[in-house]
Amino acid sequence: MKKLFVLALFFSITIFSCVDKIEMHDSQQSLNLPTNTYDYKSTAVNLNGSLSGVPSEVFHVNSFNNFENPEVTDAGATLGRVLFYDNNLSLNNGVSCASCHKQEYAFADPVAKSTGFEGRKTIRNSMAVINSGLNDNLFWDSRANSVVDLSLQPVVNHLEMGIENMRSLEKKLSELDYYPDLFEKAFGTSNITEARIASAMSQFLCSMTSFNSKFDKGEKNEFEDFTDLEKLGKEIFFGDRAMCSQCHQGRNFNAPEQSSEYGGSVKGTANIGLELVYSDPGKNNGKFKIPTLRNIELTAPYMHDGRFNTLDEVLNHYSHNIQPHPDLDKKFRNFDGSVKHLNFDEIEKKALIAFLKTLTDDDYVRDVRFSNPFKS
Ligand code: HEC
Ligand code: HEC
Repeated sequence: MKKLFVLALFFSITIFSCVDKIEMHDSQQSLNLPTNTYDYKSTAVNLNGSLSGVPSEVFHVNSFNNFENPEVTDAGATLGRVLFYDNNLSLNNGVSCASCHKQEYAFADPVAKSTGFEGRKTIRNSMAVINSGLNDNLFWDSRANSVVDLSLQPVVNHLEMGIENMRSLEKKLSELDYYPDLFEKAFGTSNITEARIASAMSQFLCSMTSFNSKFDKGEKNEFEDFTDLEKLGKEIFFGDRAMCSQCHQGRNFNAPEQSSEYGGSVKGTANIGLELVYSDPGKNNGKFKIPTLRNIELTAPYMHDGRFNTLDEVLNHYSHNIQPHPDLDKKFRNFDGSVKHLNFDEIEKKALIAFLKTLTDDDYVRDVRFSNPFKS
């Protein structure tokens, strides 16, 4: 329980809160949705194959047709978008997912620790939400196996706390005029159930894909638009000396897909020697999720605790500050066991940063499909 992340806390507080706050009306938000639903489906990642972490007992089969046919639908993602931005999911109607996952920062938060319910700070840095439907290792300690699993954690957590409270959230949402219709469009009937909330949220998360950076375009035209500096950075990034792409790999520049198979017990995590003694052990012994580098220009501060404010500081770490932690990833060890500092010179650092900036996808941060549907 202690390790359960703020999202869970946030949701359970939400649900908890409804007991005495059920009469509370929404905070004068009004919805602004297009008459024709946006197309999410064609650019989404589907939920197929990601169901292993789902405890079947939380599903009421009739109310959860979407898990039998686990596909993103436009209406499902639309509902998920509304939930993602809805302050009504919190006790004082003051916090939504988007409070900590802001579109202009590729759904990260530009502070080391985010402020949640009643001003409480998160323990870790809010993660950028990018292509998370592709991940089987969500959160800094990789504790969730899929977005479905992630969006259910609060649900499961709450089930431990008693069913009345859960019903209260369903009831609270039913009393908002915009939800019955959105649930009906997404699931065929206007019933609001926790499982449906989790499904819709998962569908929206699976829709949040970003594959339109300068790098993506470059892959199609042999990087003809890349500057010399960006090309040099690309060489270093994918080269054997810097080894960046041995961890930040594949189409999402993160831990290998199916990382649990690939990484076994480390589950897509690594210890990069930020500290000799970790106050936060992450997965274990200072191992943290190998995060995506997509949109990295926009998602400062960096690392699980937001310790670095700039990419330059990140590179200084890899260049000469790696600590000889006993569990330091072997890639950062020489044959004699000493730490292999990457020793970048100024040009190499500039080049790497120029390359990392080619992973910025301006469409992602402007895409109206992922924007706030409420106008206040
Ligand atoms: C108070 C701030 C806050 C709120 C509110 C919040 N998050 Fe997060 N989110 C975080 C933090 C911090 C992490 C990293 C937590 C950890 O590793 O323990 C995170 C991690 C995530 C991740 C994992 C990303 C990855 O690549 O592993 C996803 C997805 C996510 N949140 C979605 C959501 C959704 C959906 C909601 C609303 C139901 C939400 N968050 C509400 C702060 C927040
Ligand atoms: C052994 C695997 C490994 C290698 C090699 C590696 N990284 Fe990382 N990288 C990680 C892990 C794990 C984290 C998160 C660590 C944490 O928060 O404690 C990370 C974090 C980062 C971050 C911050 C991401 C964020 O969202 O906060 C950047 C930027 C980064 N790495 C760039 C690079 C570059 C550039 C290289 C090559 C010079 C590189 N990495 C090499 C595993 C690796």
